[in-house]
Amino acid sequence: MPKDVLADLAERRSKILAAGGEKRVAKQHEMGRLTARERILRLLDENSFVELDMHVRHRCTEFGMAEVEAPAEGVITGYGTIDGRLVYVFAQDFTVIGGSLGEMHAKKITKVMDLALKTGAPLIGINDSGGARIQEGVDALSGYGQIFFRNTIASGVIPQLSIIMGPCAGGAVYSPALTDFIFMVQGANMFITGPQVIKAVTGEEVSAEELGGALTHNRTSGVAHFMAANEDECFHQVRTLLSYLPSNNLEAPPRVESGDPVTRADLSLREIVPPEANRAYDMRDVITRVVDNGIFFETQSQYAPNILTGFARINGYSIGIIANQPRVLAGCLDINASDKAARFIRFCDAFNIPVVNFVDVPGFLPGTNQEYGGIIRHGAKMLYAYSEATVPKITVIVRKAYGGAYLAMCSRDLGADQVFAWPGAEIAVMGPEGAANIIFRKEIENSADPQATREEKINEYRERFANPYIAAARGYLDDVIDPAETRPRLACALEALASKRESRPAKKHGNIPV
Ligand code: HXC
Repeated sequence: MPKDVLADLAERRSKILAAGGEKRVAKQHEMGRLTARERILRLLDENSFVELDMHVRHRCTEFGMAEVEAPAEGVITGYGTIDGRLVYVFAQDFTVIGGSLGEMHAKKITKVMDLALKTGAPLIGINDSGGARIQEGVDALSGYGQIFFRNTIASGVIPQLSIIMGPCAGGAVYSPALTDFIFMVQGANMFITGPQVIKAVTGEEVSAEELGGALTHNRTSGVAHFMAANEDECFHQVRTLLSYLPSNNLEAPPRVESGDPVTRADLSLREIVPPEANRAYDMRDVITRVVDNGIFFETQSQYAPNILTGFARINGYSIGIIANQPRVLAGCLDINASDKAARFIRFCDAFNIPVVNFVDVPGFLPGTNQEYGGIIRHGAKMLYAYSEATVPKITVIVRKAYGGAYLAMCSRDLGADQVFAWPGAEIAVMGPEGAANIIFRKEIENSADPQATREEKINEYRERFANPYIAAARGYLDDVIDPAETRPRLACALEALASKRESRPAKKHGNIPV
């Protein structure tokens, strides 16, 4: 082979590897940000990254673009491994025309999306871009459209993760929004219309950070699922999440030996729920005592904190946990909690991850704000998501399970395969106070001492209905268990349900109330 051919290749490569040039790379580093290739190398297993399409070039000639060199077309794409498992990846390179997306940039992304789908491997996108490459006009828009289309087709087939490490603005936000999980690093932002447009149109003044920063999307909008203080922390979160997931919808999640005995009982579980019916406690204290090595990897931990969602393992098997959190809004279900939980349940169901539910729910949150916001429509998503799910479904009623919320937290009637209750559980149409006020209203009103009669009737109702044994007598529960035994009972149930196969009527797709 002639030497000059190899020299030419080396020169081309080195030019491409220099990305947007020293100055722009230095600016990126000054902002505490890595370049696209550096990010991929940090995220993937060492020496596993194989880059594709580094020689791709744009075809735009408008606005002086014919003279503009865009190494690797502003996006690095390829494949590699995480914990030895294949993943496909793309990372937009802000040092090259601001990571903006044009026709060929989009083609590089759609190529790895197609490969990920065909090979059944997760897709990870690292976003850091000024959005549609303005000079390319409708070709750039078409590129986004092709990405959105593939995000949708791949949904439920391969896990799709989006990492936001810089700007992600305008319609560009919709690719991450169509994926399963969004990770945001502090300093990055996402918005449909930026601060200047908002000011011009509505007069509102807001900073980019306030409008679409990591905190905003993790706490207020619920758009993002994870927040990291820096890029390395974010990569660690991504790798951890993937450890719970199968590579595609036809595989089981990997099993990880935990060394935590399945027979481990925990006597302290008997003391966690306070004796007073309305006193709060932290449901995380229950979950961490039950799962392998106390590790609960929460998703959307800051959003709708009245419900907890996240991954854990029991006996080394991945599980998805949905749990009411009595510390916030007494654990009531509201619009945001319903959205958060329903989407999580559907993810678990799509990827063969059994769901385990810990219930302590006084009901749906009352109020005009909730009714006007459509709690009927949003709450229905939970019923829908649990009912359509065919993965093993196990429910543990820890304390209250009242009314519609009892059903919405995966009751037997929504297809729970195993339902357990702790001995102090109260399963009823509503709380004893509300119930007594309605069914004994006349007796209370006509009594010489209405207050005493009210108390008496509440106690009467509580003794009669607010316990787990009526539900157990009807078979709505499989057993009332000693709280200390929760872990071994769940481990046993998961083992017995591991071969579960359930099918639904063939249809094009259902119509979840969105
Ligand atoms: C072309 C772009 C670009 C874009 C940035 N650049 N965004 N080039 N198209 N969309 C270029 C800049 O000209 C600059 O080139 C380099 O990238 C770095 O950008 P700076 O502005 O110097 O960086 P910074 O000051 O950090 O500001 C970053 C920024 C800003 C906030 C993202 O660049 C910006 O506002 N860009 C435009 C954002 C935007 O309106 N995009 C279109 C959104 S609409 P030089 O040569 O000077 O280094 C959209 C529709 C999608 O995306 C629709 C999908 C359905």
